[in-house]
Amino acid sequence: MATARLCVLLMVLSLTLAEDFKLKYKPASKPVRLFTEEELKRYDGSEEELPIYMAVKGVVFDVTKGKEFYGKDAPYNALVGKDSTRAVAKMSLDPEDLISDTTGLTEDQLESLDDVFEGTYKTKYPIVGYTASRILSEDGSPNPDFKPEDQPHFHIKDEF
Ligand code: HEM
Repeated sequence: MATARLCVLLMVLSLTLAEDFKLKYKPASKPVRLFTEEELKRYDGSEEELPIYMAVKGVVFDVTKGKEFYGKDAPYNALVGKDSTRAVAKMSLDPEDLISDTTGLTEDQLESLDDVFEGTYKTKYPIVGYTASRILSEDGSPNPDFKPEDQPHFHIKDEF
């Protein structure tokens, strides 16, 4: 009898502790979603019922409310469904610039990229995730350019 009571007591105690643990480690914000290139491609405005996503500097934005810019047949539709960092930096819609690579860009172009990233995308559109390539290189190894401090999930509130 005493053993049974002790057993119940221990069960209640462990459940209470588990509940406590759950609360303490509850995630502070929504989980981060990582997009592969393939996944991002679905959100290029061609399917009416899907939102429109585009990435700049590896951050995926929901640009659906800018449909007049990014929707099907709209002037900047080429930029969506992918990471268009280079195109945004150069203000170019050339197919060769519709990539994330920033190699060889001038100081002015990099500055302009940051202005548009901060002033337009981060200000106007919700962030829905990150490109997988922002964190991992093609071979699956960590991307040496990834800076943990850029990862807003851990504290930089203004990206959320
Ligand atoms: C003759 C050339 C162009 C003209 C006249 C033009 C005009 C404009 C105008 C008036 C806006 C502001 C719209 C608004 O906030 O209501 C705008 C926004 C923008 N433009 Fe252009 N543009 C041109 C070329 C380009 C090119 C080549 C790119 C290539 C990347 C580009 C990228 C953008 C982006 C990303 C925005 C921000 C859209 C947003 O708010 O989501 N533009 N453009």
